[in-house]
Amino acid sequence: MLVEAEELTRVYAMGDTVVEALRGVSLRIASGDYLALVGPSGSGKSTLMHLLGGLDRPSSGRLVIDGQDVASLNRNQLARLRNTAIGFVFQSFHLLPRTSAVENVALPLVYRGVPARTRRQRAAAMLGQVGLAHRLDHRPSQLSGGEQQRVAIARALVTGPSVVLADEPTGNLDSATGQAVLHLLEQQGAASGAALVLVTHDHEVAGRAHRQVMLRDGLVVS
Ligand SMILES: Nc1ncnc2c1ncn2[C@@H]1O[C@H](COP(=O)(O)OP(=O)(O)O)[C@@H](O)[C@H]1O
Ligand SMILES: [Mg+2]
Repeated sequence: MLVEAEELTRVYAMGDTVVEALRGVSLRIASGDYLALVGPSGSGKSTLMHLLGGLDRPSSGRLVIDGQDVASLNRNQLARLRNTAIGFVFQSFHLLPRTSAVENVALPLVYRGVPARTRRQRAAAMLGQVGLAHRLDHRPSQLSGGEQQRVAIARALVTGPSVVLADEPTGNLDSATGQAVLHLLEQQGAASGAALVLVTHDHEVAGRAHRQVMLRDGLVVS
């Protein structure tokens, strides 16, 4: 099992009040799974994605990612787990603005100690796979939204992660571009055997997944 989540909660403290964003979520993700996370705005989808991606820690519950219990890891160990096991695609791309496409994609390889030449080769090859071989030296501002999202996908996949998490990857794209981006994630996921988890508001998109998990008010309702 790639991810085992048991009774996860996440409570945000906001001054005098607390927000219970997750109230006991259990979920198992295996290799090759294709899972759509759906639910109304504010139901806890992004919070759960951040936990599954090791970007944040649960307030309570047990979370095991790629065989490692997140609670037992310090900051550096969690960052290393993120770098080796997880590819995260954000809705708003999160690319470095003053950095070329190929350097953005190569960045996760820096933390892995891959030599510069090899980094560039692997990043360029990955950009080729997402159809951007002709845009290596463009900066994000010089790329369309769909192209930026492709760069973000290439960056998420360049390390060969076992879990690809995409939080509304098509949310900022027109529907044709969104379809293309989705195809790309599905293709790459299928080719590498990675599990793919995506958050979407789009029923059609959710219908393509093998499994749908619906959240409401911080709980899995189906
Ligand atoms: N950093 C935060 N601090 C306080 N409250 C937060 C924070 N992030 C999310 N929340 C709250 O937690 C709930 C779930 O948010 P989120 O996981 O972003 O939902 P979704 O992605 O399903 O729209 C919402 O009520 C939201 O306002
Ligand atoms: Mg969200």
